[in-house]
Amino acid sequence: MSRIRLLPDTVASQVAAGEVVERPASVVKELIENSIDAGARKIEIMIHRGGISLVRVVDDGSGMDRDDALLSLERHATSKIRSAADLQAIGTLGFRGEALPSIASVSRFRLTSREPNAIAGTEIIVNGGKLDIVRDGGEAPGTQVEVRSLFYNLPARRKFLRSENTESRNIEHQIHLQAIGHRQIGFTLVRDERLVFQLPAAATLSDRIRDLYGQSLLERLIEISGNASFKIQTSGFIGQAGLSRQTRAQQLFFVNGRAIESGLITAAVREGYHTALMKGQYPVTFLFLTLDSGAVDVNVHPAKREVRFRDPTAVRDAIVFSVRQTLERGRIEWQEKFRAPASSSLTEIKIPAPAMAQPQLEAAVGPENVRGRYRPAEFAPPPRFVPDNRRKSAAGVDPDTTRRTATVPQQFQIIGVLNKLYVLMENADGLVLVDQHAAHERILFEELRRRMEEQGVPAQRLLLPQTIDLPPRDADWIDRNMSILQKMGIGIESFGPNTFKIDSLPSFLNVSDPTQFMRKVIDDLKSASNSSSAMRLGEEMIAKTVCRHAVKANDPLRYLEVEKLIQDLLECDLPYCCPHGRPTMIQISLAELEKKFGRKV
Ligand SMILES: Nc1ncnc2c1ncn2[C@@H]1O[C@H](COP(=O)(O)OP(=O)(O)OP(=O)(O)O)[C@@H](O)[C@H]1O
Ligand SMILES: [Mg+2]
Repeated sequence: MSRIRLLPDTVASQVAAGEVVERPASVVKELIENSIDAGARKIEIMIHRGGISLVRVVDDGSGMDRDDALLSLERHATSKIRSAADLQAIGTLGFRGEALPSIASVSRFRLTSREPNAIAGTEIIVNGGKLDIVRDGGEAPGTQVEVRSLFYNLPARRKFLRSENTESRNIEHQIHLQAIGHRQIGFTLVRDERLVFQLPAAATLSDRIRDLYGQSLLERLIEISGNASFKIQTSGFIGQAGLSRQTRAQQLFFVNGRAIESGLITAAVREGYHTALMKGQYPVTFLFLTLDSGAVDVNVHPAKREVRFRDPTAVRDAIVFSVRQTLERGRIEWQEKFRAPASSSLTEIKIPAPAMAQPQLEAAVGPENVRGRYRPAEFAPPPRFVPDNRRKSAAGVDPDTTRRTATVPQQFQIIGVLNKLYVLMENADGLVLVDQHAAHERILFEELRRRMEEQGVPAQRLLLPQTIDLPPRDADWIDRNMSILQKMGIGIESFGPNTFKIDSLPSFLNVSDPTQFMRKVIDDLKSASNSSSAMRLGEEMIAKTVCRHAVKANDPLRYLEVEKLIQDLLECDLPYCCPHGRPTMIQISLAELEKKFGRKV
């Protein structure tokens, strides 16, 4: 007796639905993508109870006639591809011809659709995959899909749904993705009868980001610049160094307009940020990749959430390159703010600063050098700060070729030091707070890194060379990385199987127990950098050791030292975060202050 049977269509659809429709957000995704493919200019989404009791998506796209509307609910019915060859170069978001029948098989489903010039539209009602009603319907041109009681016929699936709030949040995230990816389309979301947002079609991506996330986020983003190759274009925005999140929620990637998740892109972005990112933090990205549609396979994931690149290394390199370039440009823009004349707000203060603020400042800054403090208006404004190096450039040195030693003058004023830790400054934008410890870390880090790149870290001989025995794996690691370690100022050589002799250490370190230090270096570095370059290894080591050397919080600095610190910081490649990715400075703009004081709403 034969035991193999063909599944009835409804069951087959429910099986397929298991892959495509995981939760209400998947329904929202599929319906929006259909609307986008249909050329909609406006898409309205309405949800009830986390989308579990209702998802409704209304668009003003091409609509369908009755035959197509009926066909759209058949499995493997699609208008988007015709042959296997079309799969090589997919230009639409959908192509599998599965979404609608899958959704209709696990919900109470209603579709109405009307082509722009048709006199009447069509209404179709399907319950749990069973076609119940087909009739004329009088809706506006476009398509409206209503999905009620998701998984009502699959209680096991329903149990896997999370709370209504969580499901709502998933849906919102999904709509954010689509809205960022398709700024030319207007999006409206109504949740439980309340308007969550109404986004007008946006002329630029920055407009869309502002509409969705607000001006303050936009101000902390840098527009991506610098394409690595003609074949792979990168565009969009990324957060400036120091801006990060604890989750991936604001890490948005698009490949040819499709929102995707990708370990490869995540890692490449991380690499691009390198020391500009704290451990365990995620950068904010609105990253768009555009490449030939033949160079990506979108047919690898049932929910079309992932893609495969034909040349993953090229994609990775392109992203690393453009993230680096962009951060570098961000640095230059940031520095501009310190070059523009600082605003004259200080001179407008009509009353002297409260006396109680003074002892603290004096202790930190030193009485002989208090020129940056608050002072009443009748005093002349404190002199603008002009670093020494201007004199050098005035003497005929081309400032471009000697960026490190000669730059245009920076314009900022040091107001004082708060709590022996935070330097308060004023620049063109308003108030700047600098964490002197983090700032010093960044300066030391870049200084040591430069030395390492140029001539290797200076080493200091040990009075007594030490030997160290290591487990085989660590010994192997040392063998492989010996020359890098030497470049980093660690004089180490083989001294028998699994035994090594250390006879010098980097001179900037103050190590009391060299063998213990070596074990720590190995532990720290082994995990950090399996595949990274030699220099990266050195950077890691520097980043790990720098901290101990940097000016500690609460080390009182004299005014001149503070001034030098700030000057050095602004000359760094990535001045706004320490080598561990913590911010070194925080800007509080005058606009923000005005808002806080209720001067502006
Ligand atoms: N909102 C809409 N407006 C106009 N036509 C639509 C709309 N939604 C679906 N269709 C039509 O119905 C067809 C089937 O839609 P469905 O989502 O099931 O498959 P698909 O989009 O082709 O592929 P995929 O399963 O990958 O989403 C589409 O190819 C399209 O022709
Ligand atoms: Mg579709």
